Amino acid sequence: MELLKRKIIQEGRVLDGNVLKVDSFLNHQLDIELLNEIGKRFKELFKNKSVTKILTAEVSGIAIAAIAAQYFNVPVVFAKKTESKNLDKEVYEGSAYSYTKEKHYKFMVSKKYISEEDHILIIDDFLANGQSILGLKEIVDKANAHLVGVGIVIEKGFQEGGEMLRAANIDIQSLAIIDSMENNKINFR
Ligand code: G4P
Ligand code: NA
Ligand code: NA
Repeated sequence: MELLKRKIIQEGRVLDGNVLKVDSFLNHQLDIELLNEIGKRFKELFKNKSVTKILTAEVSGIAIAAIAAQYFNVPVVFAKKTESKNLDKEVYEGSAYSYTKEKHYKFMVSKKYISEEDHILIIDDFLANGQSILGLKEIVDKANAHLVGVGIVIEKGFQEGGEMLRAANIDIQSLAIIDSMENNKINFR
C-alpha cells in the first residue's frame, strides 16, 4: 500500500532493537484518513470472504479494527490483556510470549462475543514474531469459530511471524512488509 509506505518513510523512526516507532500516525496520534484507506484496503483484500466479526487486541489494534469494520459492517471485539471487574467470568483465553517485551501475557474475550457461527478476521498493527496473532487464534479455536484470515498493517518481514503463520496456511495480508531497517534505512519487500 503506497500511501502507507510513504508515511512510514516520512514519519517512521527506527529505534534500537529493530523497533519501528510510528507514534505520529498509528500508535499514539491517529491519522484517520490513513486509517480509512487501510480499512478500505483490508476490505478489498478480503472481499471474497464472509466475515461476521473482526477480532483485535487492545490497545493499538482497536482504532484500526474499528475503522476497518465500517467497510465490513460487522462488530469489533478486542481481546483484553488485563483482568477487570467489567470482564465476564466466562472467557476464552489465549496466551502469548513477547520476545520484544520479554514477558508472557494473556488475551481474554468473553464467551458472549464469539461463537462457533462466527467467521473471524483478525486485524492488528504489527506482525513481528507472530505470538500475538497465535494468542488471538487460540481464542478463535477455543470458540470453535472459523478464522477467515489476518490483516496486518506493518509486517516486520525479517522476524519469523509471517513465515510461521503462512506455513500454517493462515491467510495473512500485510499492507507493508519491511525486509530490513538497518541504519535508519527502511527497505520494503
Ligand atoms: P509478536 O506479537 O508478533 O510476537 O510481536 P512482539 O511480541 O514483538 O510484539 C509485542 C508488542 O509490540 C505488540 O504490541 C506489537 O504490536 C508491538 N510491536 C512489535 N514490533 C513493533 C515495532 O517494530 N514497532 C511498534 N511500534 N510496535 C511493535 P502490544 O504491546 O501487544 O500491544 P499494544 O498495547 O501496543 O497494542
Ligand atoms: Na499490537
Ligand atoms: Na503495539
